[in-house]
Amino acid sequence: MPHYDPELPIPEHVAIIMDGNGRWAKGRGKIRNEGHREGAKSVEAVLEAAKAIGIRHLTLYAFSSENWKRPEDEVSGLMGLLSHFLKLKTPTLIKNDIRLKAIGAIDRLPPASRKQLDKSIADTAHCESLTCHIALSYGSREEIVRATQTLMQRAADGEMTPEELSVENFGDYLYTSEAPDPDLLVRTSGEFRISNFLLWQISYSEIHITDVLWPDFRHENLELAVADYQKRHRRYGGL
Ligand code: FPP
Repeated sequence: MPHYDPELPIPEHVAIIMDGNGRWAKGRGKIRNEGHREGAKSVEAVLEAAKAIGIRHLTLYAFSSENWKRPEDEVSGLMGLLSHFLKLKTPTLIKNDIRLKAIGAIDRLPPASRKQLDKSIADTAHCESLTCHIALSYGSREEIVRATQTLMQRAADGEMTPEELSVENFGDYLYTSEAPDPDLLVRTSGEFRISNFLLWQISYSEIHITDVLWPDFRHENLELAVADYQKRHRRYGGL
């Protein structure tokens, strides 16, 4: 029996702030990169779970624009893990009909990670059951400024008037333009913060915060998050 009700609405888009890898490692006397390695196994498990539940979009906060400030060995460990994971798991993504996309300033990634990412994105482009949007070198404020710069340039070039910009079309200028806004935002490791993630897009998202550290977050935990979502009554500011 799943923890959620398959008869009730399933969130179309779930976004996850994967937090607690460092604490998971520290609690076991391991180095932080071991926490990230175990966290990659949770990514794999959650992708399978999301597909089984019927979620159509999953956005994973894998590396923020602020994470570049971490020690060099942790940054290179994370970038190496990303390339390794994508190389190893892309055939499984294809088998499971999962499409990979990326959001963020991916031009800042090291060339080898960028190359593998581009390849995995191209190789899964035909997949349709679930789209995994991986946030890399992502920061929401940067995303909003970048969109605003594009819009200002369009106005300066006479391609658009200020009045043509609206709440409905601003999202077209964000990295996430091809996905609906998240219905559910999950954060692991018990922190009550948004950490510069999808600030515009989560305006009406339900929020589920769990004490579980990301490396311990598996199939069952995603089901419990969906069950929590199904208890909410979404009103979008109405009654
Ligand atoms: C937060 O934990 C996690 C990250 C900054 C990186 C997320 C990366 C992964 C889950 C693994 C790699 C991902 C893929 C897609 C292969 P933290 O280090 O901030 O933990 P702490 O708050 O306990 O220190």
